[in-house]
Amino acid sequence: MSTTFTINGQPYTVNLSDLPPDTTLNTFIREHAQLTATKFMCLEGGCGACVCAVSDGKGTRAVNSCLKLLNTCAQLEIITCEGLGNHLHGYHPIQKRLAKMNGTQCGFCSPGFVMNMYGLMEQHGGRVTMEEVENSFGGNICRCTGYRPILDAMKSFAVDSNVEVPRECVEIEDLHMRARNCPKTGKSCKGCCRHTKLVYENGSQWYWPNTLAELFEAMENIEDSDEFMLVGGNTAHGVYRRSPDIKHFIDLNGVEELHQHSSEREKLTLGANLTLTETMEILRSTSKQSGFEYLEVLCNHIDLVANVPVRNLGTLAGNILVKKQHPEFPSDIFITFEALDAKVVVLKGLNDEKEISLEEFLGDADRKILLKAFVLPAYPKDKYIYDSYKIMPRAQNAHAYVNAGFLLELDSDSKVNSARICFGGIRPDFVHASDIEQLMVGHSPFEPNLVERTFSKLESLVQPDEVLPDASPAYRSKLTCGLLYRFLLKHAPNSEVSGKFKSGGELLQRPLSSGLQLFSTQKQTYPVTEAVQKLEGMIQCSGEATYMNDVLTTTNSVYCAFAGATKVGATIDQIDASDALQYPGVVAFYSAKDIPGANTFTDPSLGYEAEEIFCSGLVRHSEQPAGVVVALTADQAQRAAKLVKISYSNVKSDFKLKATLKDVFSSETPDPSRILPLAISKLKHVKLSDKPDLEVRGIFEMGLQYHFTMEPQTTVVIPFEDGLKVYSATQWIDQTQSVIAHTLQMKAKDVQLQVRRLGGGYGCKISRGNQVACAASLAAYKLNRPVRFVQSLESMMDCNGKRWACRSEYQCHVKANGRIVGLSNDFYEDAGWNANESPVQGHSTFTAANCYEFTDSNFKLSGHAVLTDAASSTWCRAPGSVEGIAMMENIIEHVAFELQKDPAEVRLANISKKTRMATLMPEFLKSREYYSRKKEIDTFNANNRWKKRGLGLSAMYFPVIYIGQFPATVAIYHADGTVVVTHGGIEMGQGMNTKIAQVTAYTLGIDLSYIKVESSDTINGANSMVTGYAIGSESICFAVRKICETLNARLKPVRKAKATWEETVQAANAQLINLIASDHYKTGDMQNYHVHGLALSEVEVDVLTGNILIRRVDILEDAGESLSPWIDVGQVEGAFVMGLGYWLSELLIFEGDNGRLLTNRTWNYKPLGAKDIPIDFRVELVHNAKPGGGGFMGSKATGEPPCCLAVSVIFALQQALQSARQDAGLPREWLRLGAPTTPETLLLNAGHQVSEYKLK
Ligand SMILES: Cc1cc2nc3c(=O)[nH]c(=O)nc-3n(C[C@H](O)[C@H](O)[C@H](O)COP(=O)(O)OP(=O)(O)OC[C@H]3O[C@@H](n4cnc5c(N)ncnc54)[C@H](O)[C@@H]3O)c2cc1C
Ligand code: FES
Ligand code: FES
Repeated sequence: MSTTFTINGQPYTVNLSDLPPDTTLNTFIREHAQLTATKFMCLEGGCGACVCAVSDGKGTRAVNSCLKLLNTCAQLEIITCEGLGNHLHGYHPIQKRLAKMNGTQCGFCSPGFVMNMYGLMEQHGGRVTMEEVENSFGGNICRCTGYRPILDAMKSFAVDSNVEVPRECVEIEDLHMRARNCPKTGKSCKGCCRHTKLVYENGSQWYWPNTLAELFEAMENIEDSDEFMLVGGNTAHGVYRRSPDIKHFIDLNGVEELHQHSSEREKLTLGANLTLTETMEILRSTSKQSGFEYLEVLCNHIDLVANVPVRNLGTLAGNILVKKQHPEFPSDIFITFEALDAKVVVLKGLNDEKEISLEEFLGDADRKILLKAFVLPAYPKDKYIYDSYKIMPRAQNAHAYVNAGFLLELDSDSKVNSARICFGGIRPDFVHASDIEQLMVGHSPFEPNLVERTFSKLESLVQPDEVLPDASPAYRSKLTCGLLYRFLLKHAPNSEVSGKFKSGGELLQRPLSSGLQLFSTQKQTYPVTEAVQKLEGMIQCSGEATYMNDVLTTTNSVYCAFAGATKVGATIDQIDASDALQYPGVVAFYSAKDIPGANTFTDPSLGYEAEEIFCSGLVRHSEQPAGVVVALTADQAQRAAKLVKISYSNVKSDFKLKATLKDVFSSETPDPSRILPLAISKLKHVKLSDKPDLEVRGIFEMGLQYHFTMEPQTTVVIPFEDGLKVYSATQWIDQTQSVIAHTLQMKAKDVQLQVRRLGGGYGCKISRGNQVACAASLAAYKLNRPVRFVQSLESMMDCNGKRWACRSEYQCHVKANGRIVGLSNDFYEDAGWNANESPVQGHSTFTAANCYEFTDSNFKLSGHAVLTDAASSTWCRAPGSVEGIAMMENIIEHVAFELQKDPAEVRLANISKKTRMATLMPEFLKSREYYSRKKEIDTFNANNRWKKRGLGLSAMYFPVIYIGQFPATVAIYHADGTVVVTHGGIEMGQGMNTKIAQVTAYTLGIDLSYIKVESSDTINGANSMVTGYAIGSESICFAVRKICETLNARLKPVRKAKATWEETVQAANAQLINLIASDHYKTGDMQNYHVHGLALSEVEVDVLTGNILIRRVDILEDAGESLSPWIDVGQVEGAFVMGLGYWLSELLIFEGDNGRLLTNRTWNYKPLGAKDIPIDFRVELVHNAKPGGGGFMGSKATGEPPCCLAVSVIFALQQALQSARQDAGLPREWLRLGAPTTPETLLLNAGHQVSEYKLK
């Protein structure tokens, strides 16, 4: 049976029975249509990389192609990013603005952002407001840019836009698409060619009913033992994975009765399978009707469910069914509807219709019950008060810690007639706080006595369960009380609420965000220092830029998935892959015994301890790969990998698994065999001064951070003649080539790598991706066919090491003036199971004094690596320096706290006069009005009990050390004088290629448009050093300038005074002058230097929930004489926001007894989103950089250092919390805030008791 749809106007007729029944649109677009602009990463609706647009007769909307099933695409018009605009037919205005306004770095997320914006514009007829735009990107993660430039570019299309647009972008273009016609008939779609049923070879069946009668007919075919699914949007798969054993899929999208709505005076009826977006539109318009005003609140709540593309697919019924199937699910639809006493209309047969309560529906055990509609009653606003809340770890696209809905019915005396007080996220069996509902009846809800009784009872009533990785019961219990308290504060008459408490009634109010970027340029060196557009920005925004998984292969390629070992500390005895091999589509299984050469993906000759590709004995961490399954599709490989059985021996009963640093230090005497002293101070005892005015001691803890690159670990291997061509997402082609060659016992010359660009690296592709690269190469070598290995998000998070967690134990003696006269800092960093890639002896040590003055005798620093039972930790953006600088800045803050002095003053008292910081900091404090803003904050805090603000400063003195060698080649073409550069570095979003092109153009004296930077490979980039640690760009710029000078020297004899560049090149070619030159940068060619930086962060804390707003951030960053200011500003903003995620939300939780990572999905690991960034984000690059201050042409690295400044945010939070604690009557006490300081940490440290919840 065939189906028809179009992609970018091209008709596709697909025989559905040729593809698995659960094929997604993403798989079809990428693998069958071979259109690669649409990316994927999480495959669960949580990252936005896969967003494309679909149009039907009703309109166009953005959807997650990773969730939309192909079998629900009949007659749709699908638009992907390359279809929207491209270099052949012209770019779309959205693509142009995003590129021109600096909105792309690695570019992997860019097509998803473009398509989400396109869908939004289409949905709103091209008329959107800035607020709507800023609110619509919760489902698109960008790990590089920090979102500010993306939001600016998108907001520039709004009808109320005040965003300045580059001149070349202001052209008015038609943002709309053509009218949609049926791909088959070419006329407007009548839905005439819908199918009804398809039976697959394996017995699976798809049905496309058009009526309820057809639907029930299809349901009758389902045997009691068969698994089935009523397909709404298929988005529940993003939360709980769909069973692979589903036999019957029934598409509900054609059943009109499930998509209707009607409103009467007394009730609003919503078809069960209206999408959440459609529901919001209906709620918004119905809220204008008397009795339905409350729907505005409900609509705002649904706006916090998932994200726009998921809401465009996901339906009301699907959401409630998730709750039915998984009672622990904190469904927002359920909690709000239940509080509103919504009823559901259900059908058990065509003529068996009933209206029942939601709770009754959830309790009904009949599998074949169909939700037909929801009924929401009218609640006249003079009689009812309704509100609902959702508190989550970041502003958007996260499920609730706790959600709540409250409905009070009041009588004519304003006493409660009836109450519905509902909470989600407590326990599967807890919905109504029934005792409180009863307690309130007959009273004014704001009576002081009732308020007191309510909260004393509620706290004991709510007993949240303890299920990792959910937040703690203590937090959820306090949150529960806080939400009801907020409700009372909000709705009580003004006269009943004390002025200081009033703001507690409101959620944090986030206005539109904006930014300011200041830098200066030097015209005499243009295009070097010129603020040019990123070289590949345009093709990134159109999706034409290729990444490793976009390399096309022949149709016989196969796909891989790791099979993991789970018994940490035991030895693998046997691996039984027989079931996996039986699974349809599986081609092979390989384990350690199949490797012809060395079983290691790290190269010992580069100083690494060997790490096994496939575990062959002792299991080091949970899910350590023990083998690889190779199959015809990625889904088949992943499903079959779960069938591999591993048996273990040497299971030690006394083995004490310690997956984290915290676990190691939880014992009274941490196991000394786990602690490796790597950087021990020669100073045995620090002279802490005989007469200190104060001694300060403390512990400071920072957790792990997962890199969260948008591009997964990816390798495509193609057997070529007698060798392999490898396309691997690696930051270090040299090491990847070497380990593959050793694994396969091949010569390096036979393993050739090519890397066009990476979709983000941040350190995790330095060596960790080699495990995938080696496994894929082994499969390609054994099977002699192309192999594609894209690691799943769960597998990446399980197997790849993270940023080294760190614990600092410090002690210092201080003078009353703030001067630290002696300091001892013992720090411990989490290595994972081995100490490869340790920052302990490197940047943690180099940065640990930061910009402060110490001597050899008053500063003792000892660094240790701590072995844990987790994947080996790895480099992560500014490795070591984030910890080193944060440790010292934390000590300064702690000292200031104990001395009751301003932290800026303590910094100034300790700054080394030898650094430029001694002048930069006072200027910065003055220009950012530090002291007056502090006073304003004090006033705000004095006037507000439940909202608190703080202002945190951080300083950075970051050493940049050049090492290794970086080769490059420049070729000039005689045909037209254009120039190609290749090199051994890796472009991964840091703008290396743009800087290289600028330097090439400047040195050769030609326009930038002549230059192209081509892929990196192991021929022109042989033996290249890793691209990391922010030195790659400058090192290669240095090599390229040397090369261009060589070429200039060769051209000199043929250069004529008035000759054009093309004429000179042709003359040189005529004289057989070699127009290709290579050279390299090597250690010692450039001086090392320090980067200075300062940040000031202002925050507001919602004391009742622990949620925060970052009100303003000012960064002053020393980029030297920036080679490319837009690139550097982008690096500063992006690195800072990645740092903010580390300090605020990125929490990793392991299961204690087996070491399993419980937060390995977008569902539970939360980098910051577009509405979490600073509301007012100001970045300035230091003007008048010191001449000859180091670096290439006076420029300085920007990729990593700004990450270290983000710690300022937790100092601001400390101040806010101190004010809250003072109000709570607690003694002054320094709080141990670290990374991450989540809403839970904040609320539990705010110090108040529920007994304080009073209105006056
Ligand atoms: C990234 C992401 C974030 C999310 N965040 C939130 C959140 O913050 N809060 C929240 O509450 N939810 C959240 N969700 C859940 C989301 O609301 C649901 O996935 C969605 O509503 C399910 O609808 P669907 O149509 O896609 O269901 P499907 O996936 O198509 O189906 C789900 C189940 O519903 C059954 N079903 C569908 N229609 C009917 C019907 N008419 N009668 C009987 N059974 C039916 C199906 O058989 C199936 O078992 C999130 C989801 C994702 C992917
Ligand atoms: S891949 Fe679809 S949202 Fe992440
Ligand atoms: S540019 Fe957004 S993830 Fe890299």
